[in-house]
Amino acid sequence: MSNKVDFDNYTDNYNQLLRESTGFFSASEEYFARYKIELVRKMIDRSPKRILEYGCGIGRNIPFLRSAFPDAQIEGSDISAASLEIARRDNPAVNFFVEHGDVQQGEPVDLIFVAGVFHHIPVSQRAAVTRKLFSRLSPGGELFVFEHNPFNPVTRRIVDNCPYDEDAVLLRPAELKSLMRDASLTLEGAGYCLFVPPKLSALTWLENVLGWLPLGGQYWVRGLRPA
Ligand SMILES: C[S@@+](CC[C@H](N)C(=O)[O-])C[C@H]1O[C@@H](n2cnc3c(N)ncnc32)[C@H](O)[C@@H]1O
Repeated sequence: MSNKVDFDNYTDNYNQLLRESTGFFSASEEYFARYKIELVRKMIDRSPKRILEYGCGIGRNIPFLRSAFPDAQIEGSDISAASLEIARRDNPAVNFFVEHGDVQQGEPVDLIFVAGVFHHIPVSQRAAVTRKLFSRLSPGGELFVFEHNPFNPVTRRIVDNCPYDEDAVLLRPAELKSLMRDASLTLEGAGYCLFVPPKLSALTWLENVLGWLPLGGQYWVRGLRPA
């Protein structure tokens, strides 16, 4: 692993790099954002009033969060101030803020969405970040974390070849679950996802039945802050 990647340096070509590395799966990089948020929307059974996307980068997921949860107040945060400038420009109605260590920011939220962030957090800081996420949840609030699946060889190759993944240390679902448990979250579920490219639309039903199979491109873990 080399030094931590600074996403301030990738704001101009973030989408292009993403498209280059995942284009074989879907020609539209928006597909991944829509897919994950739809998965979350289908799973939760109440309407969150406040939602935080932690590590939102340039805000690719924000429009999909807004359309999936039109009544919620949505916020985004990141350590990359330059990424947040773009997120703000493209989503003027949303509040974005820069993360500063353990500082508690904003009101508690009912849902925290985190996608593709943990593998960029130095291993020694992951427990503290997970505790911070716990502390930002309201009682009964839920955390959804999506991560690259280290068991999938194609995913590993993508990560190895992507310039902004230079600092990536992938984590297994068991590691993410144990971070969540140690932060006092109750595990509510986990699954593998992104098995079938959207162009094979006749097979997309498989996505709903293969969650147990460690071959999806990514996986998710869901944790609850007990009421
Ligand atoms: C691969 S990008 C993902 C961005 C966004 N979640 C998405 O799905 O498009 C990873 C993001 O995590 C952010 N990040 C890395 N370490 C972080 C930390 N400790 N706290 C918050 N954000 C972090 C980076 O600055 C970067 O914007």
